[in-house]
Amino acid sequence: MQVTEHLKDKFKQVANLPTLPKVASHLIRIINDPLTSSSDVAFLIGQDLSLTAKVLRLANSAYYGVPRTITNINTAVVILGMKVINTLVLSLTVFDMFPGNKKNSQLFDRQAFWLHSLSCGLICKSIAKKVKRILPIDPEEAFCAGLLHDIGKVVLEQYMHEDFHKALQYSLEMKIPTIEAEKKILGFSHTDVAEWLTDNWDLPLEIQHPLTFHHTVANTPDCHDIVGLCHISDWLCYEAGLGPGKQYMAPPLQKHAIENLKIRDEDLEEIKLSLPEEIEKTSIFFEIVNG
Ligand SMILES: [Fe+2]
Ligand SMILES: [Fe+2]
Repeated sequence: MQVTEHLKDKFKQVANLPTLPKVASHLIRIINDPLTSSSDVAFLIGQDLSLTAKVLRLANSAYYGVPRTITNINTAVVILGMKVINTLVLSLTVFDMFPGNKKNSQLFDRQAFWLHSLSCGLICKSIAKKVKRILPIDPEEAFCAGLLHDIGKVVLEQYMHEDFHKALQYSLEMKIPTIEAEKKILGFSHTDVAEWLTDNWDLPLEIQHPLTFHHTVANTPDCHDIVGLCHISDWLCYEAGLGPGKQYMAPPLQKHAIENLKIRDEDLEEIKLSLPEEIEKTSIFFEIVNG
């Protein structure tokens, strides 16, 4: 469905979408500049004390498995690398922008949503590593894309709470995937919202396109591999009982995405089996983002 400019404008008026905070947007601008040094990156992150603390906690967590304690941001950048730090900062920053309301909601369970996002990020990363020899997908970018793939839902939950909940209810009643219900009730979907949200963020396309096209892989103008990867990982989450709330119907799998990635069934099985352990290691993301 072609979403009209009118709907986009209407949504933007209601939502007054936030821009990406300064540190993250500055980091995106300098990260691919060959003249940028690790101390430039460390200095920039150091401007934000709360972000620095979060990055250090993550750098020292089991997720990265670094054998020594990292006590300052300079060392974190050197040991983990600028690209890893960049995707880390981006992930933390984006989720931090949408703290969510404290009301418990049966229709949109934040914990389940988080678990779904994190699982999708981890599956993306694992598959990216498996297909590395055939397809050059950066595992860190894949993690970030998977982690943020449904960010449009968080925006809808925050800015169009009532209508979004109507759409969620409708998807349950009609037993249709949430994205179809969103289009029916709102006239647009969480993937449109993700596109509008990140319009001026200058994200790398490898991260931006999966947010917009993970349900419509064939429509992506670019970055087909990582978009397809995100689509498959999302579907695998539902398969593994890690959808964003157990009762929601899985969006249909677009088979050509699997064929394009040339991933073997046994690799998928292996990834599914290792998922609980990976989730355990990454659970610190929950703690940090949920404060
Ligand atoms: Fe989605
Ligand atoms: Fe999803």
